[in-house]
Amino acid sequence: MRYIDKTDQKEKEMVQRIHLGGSNIAASAIIMGCMRISEMSPQNVNALIEKSLEVGINTFDHADLYGGGASEEVFAKAMAMGQVEREEIILQSKCGIRPGFFDSSKEYIVTSTEQILKRLHTDYLDVLLLHRPDTLMEPEEVAEAFRQLYDSGKVRAFGVSNMNPMQMEFLGSFLPYKLLVNQLQFSAAHTGMIDSGLNVNMKKEAGIDRDGSILEYCRRKGITIQTWSSLQYGFFEGTFLGSDRYPELNLVLERIARENNATAGAVAIAWILRHPAKMQAVVGTTKEKRLEEIAEASRISLTRQEWYEIYRAAGNVLP
Ligand SMILES: NC(=O)c1ccc[n+]([C@@H]2O[C@H](COP(=O)([O-])OP(=O)(O)OC[C@H]3O[C@@H](n4cnc5c(N)ncnc54)[C@H](OP(=O)(O)O)[C@@H]3O)[C@@H](O)[C@H]2O)c1
Repeated sequence: MRYIDKTDQKEKEMVQRIHLGGSNIAASAIIMGCMRISEMSPQNVNALIEKSLEVGINTFDHADLYGGGASEEVFAKAMAMGQVEREEIILQSKCGIRPGFFDSSKEYIVTSTEQILKRLHTDYLDVLLLHRPDTLMEPEEVAEAFRQLYDSGKVRAFGVSNMNPMQMEFLGSFLPYKLLVNQLQFSAAHTGMIDSGLNVNMKKEAGIDRDGSILEYCRRKGITIQTWSSLQYGFFEGTFLGSDRYPELNLVLERIARENNATAGAVAIAWILRHPAKMQAVVGTTKEKRLEEIAEASRISLTRQEWYEIYRAAGNVLP
């Protein structure tokens, strides 16, 4: 399988590239998340894909779970309608969440990936992630599944989602490949990964380390963090943009947006991209216009003062 890296087109592209986990996979700093596209028409998904490429987004995030497989199917139909070549994009999908349980058995990982490839009408995935930690995981089985998928050319690289550092260390110690990615919930209104590090040893809620310092771990190991629900608060409770729950945050985002001739959404994504961990922001809009506006995040460089102002405006108190 030949991989064509078209990064020499960079001048034309707005969204920067990140080498996933230090590998040669050059993925855009903003990723189009495909969780919400299952009910869209192939025409509209095609328009989203074309818009993504136009603004420099070359990476698309799927999961076997999204729309019960329908998101991957409609994505493949949309790709078939357009001019975008498979090698121009980075395709990532996930497996491991099944109805009522988690499954990281070898049989399931291999079968699920083969079904993903069929639905996406492709021979290979650029990246496969294990969707959630599975306490019944047998790491030897995961290693065998990964080896089989890699050796057959079906998957180029691997990662995880929602794992803590020790889970990554444990699994990684059985694998012949580096885990390149950890996809984690993070947004201006969901900042646990940062709160605990800013409030070390303090007797308050924000000081509780719920993730084992995953941010510092990933930076230390050169693992790329991808942020899911980059514009949401809570667990799928809605976007904080324009929400009555976040009046101060919206005021600050809108002010900085005006100063940069951009939207509040673009500033909220610029806030993620500004972090020196070089995270990728996964965004889930189904609207071309919003995607285009969000891509403007790439040209916004927030100052330290602005970054912390946004953090505080979301209700966080610095020690
Ligand atoms: N690894 C995991 O466990 C996990 C979990 C959840 C999600 N994910 C991934 O992360 C991706 C992103 O998650 P998400 O869909 O929750 O992302 P998001 O970008 O935070 O939210 C997108 C949603 O917000 C709405 N929205 C409202 N106002 C908006 C505005 N001004 N700008 C942009 N969007 C606005 C969008 O509606 P419109 O469509 O109308 O714009 C869409 O429904 C998913 O697609 C999936 O790939 C991973």
